[in-house]
Amino acid sequence: DTIRVFAPATVANVVCGFDILGFAVDAPGDEVIMRRKAEPGVTITKITGDEGRLPMDAAKNTVSASVQHYLKHIERTDIGVEIELHKKMPIGSGLGSSSASTVAGLFAINTMLDEPLTRDELVPFAMKGEELACGSGHADNVAPALLGGFVLIRSYEPLDLIKLPYPESLYCAIVFPDVDVPTRDARQMIRSKVLLKDAVIQWGNVAGLVSGLFMKDIDLIGRSMKDVLVEPVRSILIPDFYKLRETAMEAGAVSFGISGSGPSVFSFARDEETANRITSRIQKHLSERQIGSLTYVSPV
Ligand code: HSE
Repeated sequence: DTIRVFAPATVANVVCGFDILGFAVDAPGDEVIMRRKAEPGVTITKITGDEGRLPMDAAKNTVSASVQHYLKHIERTDIGVEIELHKKMPIGSGLGSSSASTVAGLFAINTMLDEPLTRDELVPFAMKGEELACGSGHADNVAPALLGGFVLIRSYEPLDLIKLPYPESLYCAIVFPDVDVPTRDARQMIRSKVLLKDAVIQWGNVAGLVSGLFMKDIDLIGRSMKDVLVEPVRSILIPDFYKLRETAMEAGAVSFGISGSGPSVFSFARDEETANRITSRIQKHLSERQIGSLTYVSPV
């Protein structure tokens, strides 16, 4: 009884949709291997790729803690499982790293038990994992990691998830600059009050982006991906943010912004070649500033 699950990285916020929009990419992602064991309880037996940064303690690790929470909810605490976690993307990158692991774990246990819950029903358990990881149980990484594609969180209470269509030919270019930006800190720096005039701009853009996705209108998608609420504050955490934007746009990007809470940045591009050009130019700029980076190109 062994199950191996891959869950993908995700780009949350999608620039203007703070906490309400996210999409999954093909790669990178994390892998969980789950095995049944005779004694009840959840244990982590191995973690690779985390440079020793993640807790092995089952109550503190987001994967095992959310699996424990799930087993309690479905009243199956008699079950025993061992978990191996293989991190295949950087931690604290703004690519939904903790979400991918948590989602892989929940998907594995739910599959092992013949799917007592639907994928949608797994989302609240994955949100608990996010809460443990960064103090806030947002769903804009976990929902797309579980459901795939683009997801809109229309409401949190009650949770209302809407899968959105998107143009077939959309590519995502991601660059992770190797600087430290903990999500917890990146959330604390955002102002809790906004001006009505800024809110008007923001909801115009969110509506424009969602319309652009439905209409498969890449120009509309591009011109709607602007953020007057969060990006002005968080951009200071990313080296040369505005220069990186200029570089991406000159290389043919449709859009440019922060992925999740950063430090990763991402662009949409109309084709793979343009996406590769964007990542290599951004990477070159960062390396001139002695900042290492990882790049990923994936269809949306
Ligand atoms: N919506 C979240 C944020 C995503 O921007 O803080 C990061 O996990």
